[in-house]
Amino acid sequence: MDGLSRNLKERAFFHSSLSFLYRRREFLANRFLQRLTLDVEEGAVTRIGDQAFLFVRTLEWDTNYFRCPTYRIEFADWTSHCDAPVNALAHTLTSFLSELKERHRRYYVFAEVPSEDLAMIQGLGAAGFRLIETRLGYFRDDLQDFTWPQRFAVREATEADISNLREVASNARNRYDRFHADGFFSVQIADEFLAVFAENSVKGFADVVLVPNDGETKPDAFFTGRFIPWEAGHDSGAVGQIVLVAVGETRRGWHLKLMSEMALWFKGRGVRVLYMVTQATNRPVIRNCEKLSFRLGRVTHILASSRSDCAN
Ligand SMILES: CC(C)(COP(=O)(O)OP(=O)(O)OC[C@H]1O[C@@H](n2cnc3c(N)ncnc32)[C@H](O)[C@@H]1OP(=O)(O)O)[C@@H](O)C(=O)NCCC(=O)NCCS
Repeated sequence: MDGLSRNLKERAFFHSSLSFLYRRREFLANRFLQRLTLDVEEGAVTRIGDQAFLFVRTLEWDTNYFRCPTYRIEFADWTSHCDAPVNALAHTLTSFLSELKERHRRYYVFAEVPSEDLAMIQGLGAAGFRLIETRLGYFRDDLQDFTWPQRFAVREATEADISNLREVASNARNRYDRFHADGFFSVQIADEFLAVFAENSVKGFADVVLVPNDGETKPDAFFTGRFIPWEAGHDSGAVGQIVLVAVGETRRGWHLKLMSEMALWFKGRGVRVLYMVTQATNRPVIRNCEKLSFRLGRVTHILASSRSDCAN
């Protein structure tokens, strides 16, 4: 990849979703750049700009679901002789937004940027992008040593649970998640999106959906998880991720129970690294991560720019 900034590798490492594995800096930076290069070659990601450039992916699923052209800026870089990257990035971003305005009556474009990438954060800010969400990534890289003094009755969800899980996902509202925090999406659209996400998780999008199984008729709480592909041949232990979590009013206190059971579920399948993402505002989740000895490993910011709103 002909990204030319002097600190390209370092920035690429922080953009890797697994950058909490700081001892694998070189491997993760290379893998991030190799994937980006491949995506550009295959046309899934477009490189835009000249002195400073953006790598932009059109999100087909989101575009169809929200009926609004949706783009994600995956990365940005600049040439080695660019001595004001923030200004150069802001310039490229502004031209990109003008182009989108010409092309679409409405659009949505966002980026998830690690807190270390100040140039990209400041460039997005200078181009008028708004801050939507600040995310914290917690992890355990010693999952095989995970223990918890109590066990809790849980089971894997089935399609019969879908209507309850849809309800919990949309009712246990988190006003700080990416969709609820952004005025572009109405509360109804954000609630429904989470309901669809829960439904699709049970239908196979997730590798596991765990719910309480203590004799109550309805689960009213769930955790979804998936395996993350890891380096074949070099490191056989898979990485696991807890993806979506909701705990209804009738299940207060079940976040810790489901999280410890989820950790044991992954541990039982040989996983060595488990991670999850929450909002910097989510004190109950942070409290439980700390109780279960998960460590803070990554901080990112979601910034967005849009035209019109999702319902128009
Ligand atoms: C966040 C959520 C999962 C918490 O579920 P829960 O199991 O009922 O959590 P609890 O209310 O038992 O709180 C967990 C812990 O955090 C503590 N806590 C709760 N609110 C807190 C706050 N505002 N500040 C600090 N600690 C807080 C609780 O006291 C408890 O700790 P303790 O057992 O040591 O007393 C649930 O409210 C929810 O589903 N919210 C909406 C969706 C969401 O945010 N999902 C998670 C996205 S990552």
